[in-house]
Amino acid sequence: MRPIFFFFFAIFSTCAFSQVKKSSYYREPFRPQMHFSPAKNWTNDPNGLVYYKGEYHLFYQYNPYGDTWGHMSWGHAVSKDLIQWKHLPVAIPEDSHNMIFSGSCVVDKNNSSGFAEKPGQVPLVAIYTAHIIPDKSNPDDYQQNQHIAYSLDNGRSWQKYAGNPVLDLGKKDFRDPKVFWYAPQQKWVMLTVLPHEHIVQFYGSKNLKQWEHLSDFGPQGDTSAIWECPDLLQVPVAGAGGEKKWVLINSQQTTMQYFVGSFNGQSFMNENPHDLILRPDYGADNYAAITYNNIADNQPPVLVGWANNWQYAPAIPTGPWRGAMTLPRTLSLKKTGDTWILLEQPVDALKNYRSGKTLGWTNLAVNGEHKLPVHTQLAEFDLLFDPSGADSCGIKLAVGNGHYFTIGYKKQFHEIYIDRSQSGNTSFHPAFSAWLRSSVKLQEVQKAVHLHIIFDKSIIEVYVNDGEVVLTEQLFPDQKNDAVVLFSNGGNTIFEQVKIWPLKSAWWPAH
Ligand code: FRU
Repeated sequence: MRPIFFFFFAIFSTCAFSQVKKSSYYREPFRPQMHFSPAKNWTNDPNGLVYYKGEYHLFYQYNPYGDTWGHMSWGHAVSKDLIQWKHLPVAIPEDSHNMIFSGSCVVDKNNSSGFAEKPGQVPLVAIYTAHIIPDKSNPDDYQQNQHIAYSLDNGRSWQKYAGNPVLDLGKKDFRDPKVFWYAPQQKWVMLTVLPHEHIVQFYGSKNLKQWEHLSDFGPQGDTSAIWECPDLLQVPVAGAGGEKKWVLINSQQTTMQYFVGSFNGQSFMNENPHDLILRPDYGADNYAAITYNNIADNQPPVLVGWANNWQYAPAIPTGPWRGAMTLPRTLSLKKTGDTWILLEQPVDALKNYRSGKTLGWTNLAVNGEHKLPVHTQLAEFDLLFDPSGADSCGIKLAVGNGHYFTIGYKKQFHEIYIDRSQSGNTSFHPAFSAWLRSSVKLQEVQKAVHLHIIFDKSIIEVYVNDGEVVLTEQLFPDQKNDAVVLFSNGGNTIFEQVKIWPLKSAWWPAH
């Protein structure tokens, strides 16, 4: 090639390449556009959720070397609005002795830990489980204890504390510390789990380094599988002018539960019936959810989970990443009869990503199927309908070529259900093929059912009746299957309100 041609060829091909690169960035099949996912490799639990100096930090269980679980380290991203994320380098990598398991992060405003090196410096302190395998040829023979690390530069670099561990029971399974500041007694409180005993343990500390045992909670509620990832937080009672109650959340494989009651700095008392099982999410794909530390007192708590399920997570057909987080959700409480229940809403900032023309209909009568004039796999839906005239009714998404994902109400059981049996690739793992339907009976049967749905490529979140029930599920549809259909079987349904907001990708233009 003559030099001048080579020059133009080089320029042209670089431009063409960067065009391709730009337009395909975060545009792989199934890549969520509103939900956080790492650029590549494996993630599971969210970790160390903390707000500091205008940034929401999201640390997360991360394998820097591959797309299945292993080499667990803390990945890191930051956001100003909890929707658009900027990826940062790995924050706390595994070392030759320890994998870095789940945990939390606090803002040590008074330098109680003594980690500050200059007056006025505020350490961020991460409290996590070290997972120690003394003999690498025998990974099932491990130990877990609690370690800390600190950052003096807004979470960008981390030092592991030389005096680790800060809490060690000499146990095999003892993990997932969640630490928060308990102002009335000017102390730090840590929750951890003894997974097989179904116990959440409480510890207290003045300096994050020495911890004393305060109390144990459990077994209560669902004890059918191991407990992991506990959290305790104050949640405002909706419309009660500042009244708050304490909510204890824990994961038990492969779902979650919550308890509502009081906390006196020492122990938690469940005020709901002790055998009652309430879930923050009734779908298949929400696990290990925890809440943000250090958000302003007048703001509602924000919960983030891993939008996946251990039963089939290693096999989901995504790449080059595997795993994503749920949308961050704000929490409040309400009492129905004698029971306190959580209300969840996607964070308000989601509304800023509505783009293009809003579509809307009122009083649409449907008997059978009614196709709406819209094609999308990235949109927000709001439906209000009276379900009393039909056996089942609702909406089908990702419709095309005989495939669809159903979100419906079944009158006979007063239940909301989601059915992904026809949604696309369901055969990549037997546990996924076996978990094709999720359902929940509504606490109060109301005249109208209100569904707020976020459909984001391979994740669907459904908020029912102002978030008193939420279901999160993954689906792996063909990209071409993007029609939207309302349905009403065994009778007539009036959809009093149908609204659809197309969403724009949160990956653009930040990346
Ligand atoms: C929950 C969990 C935690 C543990 C982490 C390891 O999903 O099993 O208990 O700290 O994942 O990656």
